[in-house]
Amino acid sequence: MRNSRIEVLPVAGAVGAEIAGVHLAEPPDDGTIAEIRAALNAHGVIFFRDQELDVEAHKALARRFGEIFIHPNFKGSGADPEIVVIRREPGDSSVVGEEWHADTTMCAAPPMGAILYGVEVPPYGGDTLFASQGAAYDALSDGMKRMLEGLRAVHSDRKVAGPQAALNAKRATKVREDAEWRETISLHPVIRTHPETGRKMLFVNHSYTVGFEGMTEAESRRLLDFLLAHGHRPEFTCRFRWSTGAIAFWDNRAVKHIALNDTGPHRRIMRRVQIAGEAPF
Ligand code: SIN
Repeated sequence: MRNSRIEVLPVAGAVGAEIAGVHLAEPPDDGTIAEIRAALNAHGVIFFRDQELDVEAHKALARRFGEIFIHPNFKGSGADPEIVVIRREPGDSSVVGEEWHADTTMCAAPPMGAILYGVEVPPYGGDTLFASQGAAYDALSDGMKRMLEGLRAVHSDRKVAGPQAALNAKRATKVREDAEWRETISLHPVIRTHPETGRKMLFVNHSYTVGFEGMTEAESRRLLDFLLAHGHRPEFTCRFRWSTGAIAFWDNRAVKHIALNDTGPHRRIMRRVQIAGEAPF
């Protein structure tokens, strides 16, 4: 679709669109930002190619959509707390985001989105997949929708940070594993309403959701497993093949994503800025 300023090219039926006709390093005008926001609302994740974003331009772009979110578990891992460098070195057996997830949902107000920039892209592999949680909700039966309405899920960061997660030995990107680290837990609705579009979204994910309010984790398991698998059925997904200078900008309220660790002997370096969000409702 050609808008007045940008071109929006959907890449799959449920989620994802490539945006052409914009150079993000030159500060986009307000009209262009409004069109980018509309494309994000319509497609859940948008992709740009051949951008040249240094750190300052990257952060400036993020600020056009909200305040920068400081990740509590990567804090101190680099010189600039507003930036997370996601580094995969040859030999790493684990990478950041290798399970289907939305970002940082143990927080009471998880980020609304993230802008990920391809700094060093491997010759093959390292794709990122996205799944529409609006499409996942729509495909549930009326009975299941009724059952989930009003149910809240427990989100914890215990699987992705802290000494018990023991991830730092397996990968180049380090999280907090010090003895002072404490688990963060929040309750969020299983079905959330998107604050800009009003669309209902399934809101549980493998990395953070550990059960349902008022139930044991064992009691929660079967329903949670069903919802987690349902949320990334192939028809809800798209897959992004990275190139150097490419950008994926996802709406963390509307999609789940997963990073593949299949780059063999090759390095992969990405730079991420997250944008602050609101408490889900
Ligand atoms: C993430 O989960 O934010 C990382 C995604 C990626 O590296 O592709």
